[in-house]
Amino acid sequence: MSQFDVVVIGAGPGGYVAAIRAAQLGFKTACIDAGVNKAGDAPALGGTCLNVGCIPSKALLQSSEHFHAAQHDFAEHGISAGSLHFDAAKMIERKDAIVTKLTGGIKFLFQKNKVENFFGFGSFKGKNGDFWQIDIDNKGEKSTIEAKHVIVATGSVPRPLPLVEVDNVNVLDNEGALNLTEVPAKLGVIGSGVIGLEMGSVWKRLGAEVTILEAAPTFLAAADQQIAKEAFKYFTKEQGLNIELGVKIESISKEKKGVRVQYELNGAKKDETFDKLIVAIGRIPNTQKLNAEAVGLAKDERGFIAVNELCQTNLPNVWAIGDVVRGPMLAHKASDEGVAVAERIAGQKPHLDFGTIPWVIYTDPEIAWVGKTEEQLKAEGVDYKKGTSGFGANGRALGLGKAKGTVKVLADAKTDRILGVHMIGPMVSELIAEAVVAMEFKASSEDIARIVHAHPTLSEVVHEAALAADKRALHG
Ligand code: FAD
Ligand code: NAI
Repeated sequence: MSQFDVVVIGAGPGGYVAAIRAAQLGFKTACIDAGVNKAGDAPALGGTCLNVGCIPSKALLQSSEHFHAAQHDFAEHGISAGSLHFDAAKMIERKDAIVTKLTGGIKFLFQKNKVENFFGFGSFKGKNGDFWQIDIDNKGEKSTIEAKHVIVATGSVPRPLPLVEVDNVNVLDNEGALNLTEVPAKLGVIGSGVIGLEMGSVWKRLGAEVTILEAAPTFLAAADQQIAKEAFKYFTKEQGLNIELGVKIESISKEKKGVRVQYELNGAKKDETFDKLIVAIGRIPNTQKLNAEAVGLAKDERGFIAVNELCQTNLPNVWAIGDVVRGPMLAHKASDEGVAVAERIAGQKPHLDFGTIPWVIYTDPEIAWVGKTEEQLKAEGVDYKKGTSGFGANGRALGLGKAKGTVKVLADAKTDRILGVHMIGPMVSELIAEAVVAMEFKASSEDIARIVHAHPTLSEVVHEAALAADKRALHG
């Protein structure tokens, strides 16, 4: 029976990165993954992120943004493109090609780093002395390997809505939403979270009438509410997304003509039929095929594998990372936990600061943040100061034709240490990195204010917001 120092179960951004790092550190490493490609006929590494999440969604967001820009924004640059057409199937093909390139890249990295890759579902069998026994089920063909250390990285799956079953024909989860080859005339989305907004934006830009039905009364409750309010205005008033908050979904039925949704909004009964309905109401940890019970691997009250701050489970030498454990369900959080666990197995003492994990929503304008929101600081009774600056008068943003949005820097009133940075605007997915570095280095807003920022760049708005925190904005 093959024995390994480290066996990783799951090859998403948590698992594959953990496996590579473990191998780099000299461990004999294997990674078991059950992911298959879109056609379902070959293994595909990379998990949710590469196959049906981060990467394909960003590819479609870009294609749809190009089309929208050609339709609506080129004219102000003096460019006329004649009559415009797009081919949704071609967009999907392009997206699929990017996915194939990247998932193939992981296979290459595994070979390069000598990570042994097994296809199939991994599950706990038991223990043999110091070694954990892991069964691998490859479409009924079974084998067993042994590992001193196991890293569980089995990710998450869409949270089901009890009222309707996803069939990925008319009722779609993220997988179906990323594979529509025709634009639905009327698209319904349940949940105005990250997936709802990103997928709603894609299909809206391509011509669908999009209605997003959100149960919560607050839009983007996890975001700073100044930024969330600004976003809501752009998405609804300017872009025409119909976002209904405080909705109670009463029934969903699949009909001949589409999907009928009956719901209550502000005490009134509503009845809408959509051509397609996306259900995006969050994700739940994926522990189904692990046989966790057989070895007593503990879960928390929400079904996540229970871990401490070091990603240790209740079992010796069994670790868990990424979406299957507490914390934000983000690819970079999963990867960084993977690296940290591999290094801990090697006796190192890496540290991952949960307070500086950035969030990005890839709408247009983009939304990004790191650290505490103003609402959190108020609730915690922290004495803070703030500086804001807009993209409206930023030369680069004007040149790009994207002069919308705000950067807000929140800093401790006494020490000036940065506590949170919140952004909505062009390419803030990239700008947020400066704020993350600053917070990691425990910088003050004055530190950012005294750093030279290139001109003309979007980053000058971050600089200006930091100056504003000290009431010395130059252009405000
Ligand atoms: P996963 O990526 O879910 O990988 C888990 C892997 O384990 C899968 O390959 C699965 O097949 C395999 N597996 C499960 N059980 C077993 C088993 N028993 N045996 C063997 N293999 C098993 N995050 C971002 O940071 N940025 C984004 O832009 C972003 N966009 C997203 C867009 C969408 C539409 C979605 C759905 C998610 C997005 N996310 C994004 C979230 C991101 O995809 C996840 O946080 C990330 O993939 C989690 O990584 P993971 O390694 O924990 O799990
Ligand atoms: P989400 O948690 O972001 O949003 C789900 C939304 O659905 C919430 O606003 C919630 O209030 C609402 N909701 C829940 N039940 C409902 C119901 N019965 N009726 C109506 N609304 C309901 O989850 P989402 O969008 O499914 O995405 C899952 C996760 O994937 C995200 O939390 C994020 O971690 C990750 N992701 C990250 C992205 C990024 O980093 N850019 C992009 C897409 C997903």
